[in-house]
Amino acid sequence: MRFDIITIFPELFSPFLSHGVLGRGVREGKIQVNLINLRDFGEGAHRSVDDRPYGGGAGMVMMPVPLHRALLSIEKQEPYLVVFLTPSGRLFEQNLAKELMQKRQLIIVCGRYEGIDERVLTLWGDLELSIGDYVLSGGEVAALVVLEVIGRMIPGVLGDENSVQEESFSEGLLEYPHYTRPRVFEGMEVPQVLLSGNHKEISQWRRKMALRRTKERRPDLFSKLTLTQEELNLLNELDT
Ligand code: 6GU
Repeated sequence: MRFDIITIFPELFSPFLSHGVLGRGVREGKIQVNLINLRDFGEGAHRSVDDRPYGGGAGMVMMPVPLHRALLSIEKQEPYLVVFLTPSGRLFEQNLAKELMQKRQLIIVCGRYEGIDERVLTLWGDLELSIGDYVLSGGEVAALVVLEVIGRMIPGVLGDENSVQEESFSEGLLEYPHYTRPRVFEGMEVPQVLLSGNHKEISQWRRKMALRRTKERRPDLFSKLTLTQEELNLLNELDT
């Protein structure tokens, strides 16, 4: 899968593209990332990419012409999508990531300043995305989030295929708690069931803990679940 990222800070991306899971995906050629410096398409001696808003008010607006030129310069590979990262976009979630993964190319525009000229969004925007209800100074961190989330879903990028499936959110549940050595840490023991070797009991316990956590911490996710009779029984054990 190919990602083309339009940004005024291309150098922010490189450490994320050379380390960890994304790094391996890039090295193995499963993920291609093309960084486009918006300033290369800027106007005048200062290569300006922003200007004052019509109608007045605080802050600067990203000009349409440099963005338009940058978008035109990108070699397109169908099926592709042009995605603008702004705090007023649709919320980026795991299910949406799964849909985006079906594309061959994602062209991602990192918003900066107070906003982007609406006409460039009208002309080019297939989708506006936000990563959550808070304000970032720019879309670069959001673009890294999108890269991380989609990158690890691409077949062969994660070493262990099961880990994508088993993870938090793939079923709308939070993860169960994890333990490793030592058996006793600062007086706290690893739950006995995990040492039992009884795989059926272990998976039931993990399921129960995942359900409990989701119910307590994320009632919004919990209310969307359709629980099996076995899961309802597990939850009942918690209530007593
Ligand atoms: Cl995509 N951009 C900015 N600037 N702020 C955000 C965001 C994006 N998502 C959440 N906050």
